Amino acid sequence: MYRLKWGQAILALILLLIEVQGFYVPGVAPVEFKKGQKIDVKAVKMTSTHTQLPYEYYSLPFCLPKNGTLFYKSENLGEILRGDRIVNSPYEVAMGQNMSCRLLCHTPSNPMTWKEDDSVLVMERIIYEYTVHLLIDNLPAATKEKHEKNTIVYHGYRLGGVSGNQVYINNYLKLKLSYHKHGENEFRVVGFEVEALSIDFTQLQFEGSTCKIPTQEPNLQFVNPKGTQILFLYSVEWKESQVSWASRWDIYLGMSDVEIHWFSIINSLIVVCFLSGILTMIIIRTLRRDIARYNAGENDSIAGLDETIEETGWKLVHGDVFRPPTNSRLFAAVIGSGIQIFFMALITIFFAMLGMLSPASRGALGTCAIFLYVFSGLVAGYFSARLYKTMRGKEWKRAAMLTATLYPGIVFGTCFFLNFFIWGKHSSGAVPFTTMLSLLCLWFGISLPLVYLGYFFGFRKQPFTHPVRTNQIPRQVPDQVWYMNPILSTLMAGVLPFGAVFIELFFILTALWENQFYYLFGFLFLVFCILVISCSQISIVMVYFQLCGEDYRWWWRSFIVSGGTAVYVLDYSIFYFMTKLEITELVPTLMYFGYTALMVLTFWLLTGTIGFFAAYVFIRKIYAAVKID
Ligand SMILES: *[C@@H]1O[C@H](CO)[C@@H](O)[C@H](O)[C@H]1NC(C)=O
Ligand SMILES: *[C@@H]1O[C@H](CO)[C@@H](O)[C@H](O)[C@H]1NC(C)=O
Repeated sequence: MYRLKWGQAILALILLLIEVQGFYVPGVAPVEFKKGQKIDVKAVKMTSTHTQLPYEYYSLPFCLPKNGTLFYKSENLGEILRGDRIVNSPYEVAMGQNMSCRLLCHTPSNPMTWKEDDSVLVMERIIYEYTVHLLIDNLPAATKEKHEKNTIVYHGYRLGGVSGNQVYINNYLKLKLSYHKHGENEFRVVGFEVEALSIDFTQLQFEGSTCKIPTQEPNLQFVNPKGTQILFLYSVEWKESQVSWASRWDIYLGMSDVEIHWFSIINSLIVVCFLSGILTMIIIRTLRRDIARYNAGENDSIAGLDETIEETGWKLVHGDVFRPPTNSRLFAAVIGSGIQIFFMALITIFFAMLGMLSPASRGALGTCAIFLYVFSGLVAGYFSARLYKTMRGKEWKRAAMLTATLYPGIVFGTCFFLNFFIWGKHSSGAVPFTTMLSLLCLWFGISLPLVYLGYFFGFRKQPFTHPVRTNQIPRQVPDQVWYMNPILSTLMAGVLPFGAVFIELFFILTALWENQFYYLFGFLFLVFCILVISCSQISIVMVYFQLCGEDYRWWWRSFIVSGGTAVYVLDYSIFYFMTKLEITELVPTLMYFGYTALMVLTFWLLTGTIGFFAAYVFIRKIYAAVKID
């Protein structure tokens, strides 16, 4: 009774959080500006969905800041790993002060000159459709583009475009800012839009550093591969706005439909209900009947009446069901890694749901996930050790070593390999050497010792207890029916949990590869819960069928089968690559598939571990319920 009430209360709380969160990104304290106060305009990076390689702003020969020194903001781990390199820029913006067209640097008599190689580099970036990301008061610039009826909003502005067989560059930026009057002479920046235009500067009239835009449509500023002369211009326009500080991110976040997330939740709930239906049928009907029959059969056979009752079914394998699996050390390590990922994911998504890791706190999500992963090592070590002891493992130190290095080793190896290629392209997406060192320190300095510590304490505890004893001699496993084939059952088991998560997966992939913001963490939390439930259910169903077929080798099987969702995630990622992305080059393709492989591995460990624990609990319950001589 109480449990039900608690469940309802938690559900209500989660729904409330989603409601509140729909269009609201809290987390960062507002900054007040006085009228006329200078506001820094910062450049973050430039990105392209075609190459997936971010570059820092000054990788191209743009106007330098007014005092000539580049001043990089110190960044958190998450920002660095995303390739952000936040730097000051020469744009001058003052709160509430309009400014008409003005020169950014150089003069009409002595314009900026790009030689051949610079021009070619700029053209290359424009052809790959790079967008540049600027930041004012931690608010990224957005571009609104009108397409017939609807307007498209994306963040950043386009570096340039192609017209005919010539390439033009957007050299004139209209910075359209909005402020919200908060108090007496207290203003907050609540909107930052950029309109990027290409204007041939030879058609403009200049007076000092100001310029006049002609009324008729000016020519585009083309980039000439032989060398280009160019001037950069900008203007600033402020508008008073009713948008409050808290909802200044809405313009970016409104990009995806909230309805579709609700659809996804309902879709997932249907999956779970369907599974629960099957499960209830099996457990409540079949299992109760089995147990009643087995227990009645016991009494009968004691009375010497009927001995045929025990001939089929899962009870037959009671002497083998808890026989430790082969490769128990690897199994403990795999499950340990899964536990570590599970805790990281759960707590990260939970904090994100509370709004602490919104896109407004740049890089916080990545940083938080890394630290949580590192500290989850303790829990992972503890449970992995107890499991290892249960499986009669002896060499706990070697098992701890394997647990602590298996997953991080694969991740590190892959990233290190990919990093070589990214670094070769001089992209800011390459992890700098110092960051690499600090990640290694986190791994060997904190995560690994914590796993050992967890193992030390876990191994001193009693192993998990089992309700039945294991026989000395293993039983013969009979031939299995065709549909219990491991590959087939993995594929079957993966469908339903994948069906529950694939819509959110689409949004996550979009956020990862198409530079969108992902912010509906309330939904993500619900979907995560649904994933846990559906994986557990499917794993129980599959293990039940397996044991009914008198196949008692369920340890690895439960892990692999419930990890089947990962197979579908892989397929879906390949499909996404084919249909949504326009990647043609080698390095971006390598990057995509490298990171996808890591994502799939992570997902496999996560879902497999959930499935294993569900099956383990289930098996202990059912064998505790039957009487065995
Ligand atoms: C240049 O300006 C930036 C801010 O715009 C400032 O942080 C930096 O210290 C300045 N450098 C020098 C040498 O004055
Ligand atoms: C700036 O210009 C815009 C458009 O011309 C105008 O609506 C706005 O009132 C101006 N703001 C200030 C502070 O002058």
